[in-house]
Amino acid sequence: MHIVAIDGPAGSGKSSVSKACAKALDFGYLDTGAAYRALTYAILNLGLEVANRSAEEIKANFDYSISLDPQDYWVRVGELDVTYEIRNPSVGEVVSQFAGLPEVRRYMFTLTRELVLASGLTGVIVEGRDITTKVFPEAKTRILLTASEEVRLGRRSAELPEGTIVADQVTKRDQNDSKVVDFLMPAEGVILVDSSELDFDQTVSAVIELVVNK
Ligand code: DC
Repeated sequence: MHIVAIDGPAGSGKSSVSKACAKALDFGYLDTGAAYRALTYAILNLGLEVANRSAEEIKANFDYSISLDPQDYWVRVGELDVTYEIRNPSVGEVVSQFAGLPEVRRYMFTLTRELVLASGLTGVIVEGRDITTKVFPEAKTRILLTASEEVRLGRRSAELPEGTIVADQVTKRDQNDSKVVDFLMPAEGVILVDSSELDFDQTVSAVIELVVNK
């Protein structure tokens, strides 16, 4: 299986770039941030508790599923489709708080590896914050996708509802998240792709080239 690990900060474009690359390569696509967001959604709306819970207890109480098909992306908690709800700023504002809990991260580590390794796909693009360094350090292709803060703020403001304080959703969240995992500097063996000066198609092409040349 060709695993492509892609990390990067909020607004780096890694979700849309990863999805487009997966479609072009006929690979699966796994958005690992969706699990942190769905967990946060379940805490806020469905009474899920994670404080003082072990990774095993979290697993037993959180019925999570996600599609790895880049043509048909969905996220579910139990029978509930939360694909769009997890993008809500109310989730984005507090997700880092739960993503910083060691047992949550231990649960996510196992979940992510299982989802990918049990998929039976020939290739999967896995994107997040700690994929190149912690979850799949053995991935065949490892990329850190970045862009300048100005470019990232601009891209996110186009996605979020009008009136949202974008800096809170991007800069502050990155500050919080990067206390837990370093996704701002490429680790040894990780290729840096800076998309500040590239448009979407150029970024997709740059990533595809790295994958096919492996
Ligand atoms: O990529 P995203 O914005 O949907 O991620 C949501 C949150 O999940 C983000 O604030 C940090 C956390 N996250 C993480 O800690 N590790 C990952 N591999 C993916 C996401």
